[in-house]
Amino acid sequence: ESLRARNTLRLESRATALVEVSSPVQLTEALDWARAEGLPVVPLGTGSNVVLVGDLDALVVCHRGSDMELLSEQGEQVLLRVAAGHDWHALVQRTLEAGLYGLENLALIPGTAGAAPIQNIGAYGVELDRFVVAVHALETANGRAMTLTAGDCGFGYRDSVFKGELRDQLVITAVDLRLSRRPRPELGYPALRSELEQAGISEPRPEDVFRAVVDVRSRRLPDPAREPNVGSFFKNPVLKAAAVEALRRQHPDLPVYPQSGGRAKIPAAWLIDRAGWKGQRRGGVGVHPGHALVLVNYASDSGAELLALADEIVASVQARFGVALEPEPRIYGG
Ligand code: EPU
Repeated sequence: ESLRARNTLRLESRATALVEVSSPVQLTEALDWARAEGLPVVPLGTGSNVVLVGDLDALVVCHRGSDMELLSEQGEQVLLRVAAGHDWHALVQRTLEAGLYGLENLALIPGTAGAAPIQNIGAYGVELDRFVVAVHALETANGRAMTLTAGDCGFGYRDSVFKGELRDQLVITAVDLRLSRRPRPELGYPALRSELEQAGISEPRPEDVFRAVVDVRSRRLPDPAREPNVGSFFKNPVLKAAAVEALRRQHPDLPVYPQSGGRAKIPAAWLIDRAGWKGQRRGGVGVHPGHALVLVNYASDSGAELLALADEIVASVQARFGVALEPEPRIYGG
């Protein structure tokens, strides 16, 4: 089964088997089958955060269906259960139209609701974890249902237990989110504030924030449908205070975003850009000319070619700045 149309990098990769499931019973059957065949299970949403290097000797499971259920309401707070297969951006739109606020900063992020907790999607000053109440899943080893509370999920910056301890052990089936009927726009991110200011909006409603995020993303990030990519290819490194100070002495214009404990996040895009990579090509792959953190597959079949470029970038940033970059998407094979 070819996965080329199922990953946004449009890399060629074949899975041993693929199943689309639209009910819990179908998912259980699929897991039973994989266990009987001795095949690992790989859940795949829109493939917008994976790099497929070679073939997948696995059963690939794709969720269909976009259920959204209102579980309870308490004062201004509303608890929703969203099926794993729900398209993320469609969910952001749908909740906004229903007068349920909170997700507006996370507009236009590619992918599904079920995949969102894995990397704790985040953008423009908001991360998913502030809304998550629980994550529901089936264990691939025995098909048992389990529910993780937000605390169980080990959320961090682009991180969770689903990338760590529980990696490859679960298929997420639904996510419970707490949203609010009262708008509380989050305007901390400078690029978002200036977008709104330029539009002449001084007291933005969530709909304005949504529009501004859609506009700024559409301008800054290449559309995966036209220039195959997985968004940011590396995480922004979080460094200790001393390391940041040392870098700042050598590079006074390095942007710095302070975090807790005296640490600071620095933009990987800035490091890659300064190392001269923006717009560079290697065979069929390259660094986007508009954003240095986005690697694009212009004309390659091979995840290996993309990883070779990523390795070259990591080595070059290490040599120049002494900073280790870590890939953000999940890499299969390679
Ligand atoms: N910059 C450059 N050169 C570039 C691009 C950016 O020097 O080519 C510098 C600029 O100083 C800029 C800074 O990098 O101010 C940050 O750039 P940007 O605002 O585009 O954000 P980012 O740090 O590159 C992160 C997330 C994005 C998210 C945006 C907005 C990560 C790994 N990436 O990108 O998430 O949309 O912030 O919040 O944290 C993704 O994860 O796939 C993703 C796109």
